[in-house]
Amino acid sequence: MNVKVGIDRIGFYTPKWYVDMAKLARARNEDPNKYLIGIGQRKQAVIPNSQDAVTMAANAADQIIDDDNRQKIDLILFGTESGIDNSKSAAIYLQHLLKLPNTVQSVELKQACYAMTAGVQLAKDHVLAHADSQVLVIGADIARYGLHTPGEPTQGGGAMAVIISANPAILSIEEGSAHYVADIMDFWRPLYETQALVDGKYSSQQYIDFFQRTFTQYQKQTNLKISELQAIVFHLPYTKMGLKALRAILSKTSEIHANQLLREFEYSRMFNREVGNLYTGSLYLSLLSLLINSESLNAGQKIGLFSYGSGAEGEFYVTTVQPNFKDALNIPIITKILSQREELEIPVYEKMFASQMPLTNTDFETDYQADDAKFYLSGQKNQQRQYRSR
Ligand code: COA
Repeated sequence: MNVKVGIDRIGFYTPKWYVDMAKLARARNEDPNKYLIGIGQRKQAVIPNSQDAVTMAANAADQIIDDDNRQKIDLILFGTESGIDNSKSAAIYLQHLLKLPNTVQSVELKQACYAMTAGVQLAKDHVLAHADSQVLVIGADIARYGLHTPGEPTQGGGAMAVIISANPAILSIEEGSAHYVADIMDFWRPLYETQALVDGKYSSQQYIDFFQRTFTQYQKQTNLKISELQAIVFHLPYTKMGLKALRAILSKTSEIHANQLLREFEYSRMFNREVGNLYTGSLYLSLLSLLINSESLNAGQKIGLFSYGSGAEGEFYVTTVQPNFKDALNIPIITKILSQREELEIPVYEKMFASQMPLTNTDFETDYQADDAKFYLSGQKNQQRQYRSR
């Protein structure tokens, strides 16, 4: 690959409400350390009925679109498993909300939490074929398992948006990647369900198995030595999951390097620990967390990425840190989103959880007046979602 292609900009959005995981644990008669340490989560985003995959994507992407790249974006790849229509793509709503040109090719991608990575790789190939183009890739989801279920402490939600371009400012994507797919039932959501069905223990085992397979396969394909990786970032349905996968390969490297990978992992889970699961966006929130929080990342260092989507598909690939990458990250906006949130007491969270817009043909008004996000859903009228911006 002669031209460098990769991630040029990164945007992130999560709604402003959260629950404290220690309080949630007490309300569920669990030891708080089960959620804080055993699951590895401190706070969990609560998604109001005025936000869905489209509005969260718009709030994230709005941070990284300006007059410079608006005309260059010619493709939107919208990864989600929280689709709002069985036919029309979420990407079309997004094109309209962001005022992107009508010439932008726009589609939605689905393969559980893997779909944003599919978008990143398809975008890379698109830019290799059209060097002047830029691609907007989205991962936006609401992770819902239900109150009082084992999955409840692994909920959350939000959106990641990246621009893939030539000569990227943040990370270039190395040639090659390793995939593994298998038709398994570890997590799925039939059309009649609003909450996922999951065999949690089985999905956690499969995740580790897929990581080991794709990591080994990638090493075989590219001769990559594990010691060449400064860090490995993971899809984080809950942050302990990534730690378990990382531990599974630490015996393949020196103690010094293993400790370095563990140190970098701690930086890479800081943001996810505060938000919970984003499904498609989780890997890229973890990447953002590493890029912003790590003190030892330098240009030229390699970061491995493991993407996993239940059902299941895994992919391992490698990126290279670009010079002055921190200048391309909008750190004040990300910090503000995470630091200016409001805590909900458990009964209020339960009420908000139950107040989702019903999947019926009746008109509905959301609680949008309480939501100060730029893009929001005001409700449904004549069987059409009413998207607004302020
Ligand atoms: N202090 C510290 N750790 C504690 C603890 C305490 N007081 N009590 C329990 N733990 C640990 C357990 O040892 C376990 O750690 P381990 O996984 O390293 O063995 C962890 O907390 C979770 O406990 P467990 O009893 O296994 O939880 P659970 O049966 O309630 O379910 C999940 C956990 C993750 C399976 C469940 O939340 C789930 O189904 N989530 C959705 C599926 C998912 O995210 N899958 C990931 C792949 S995409």
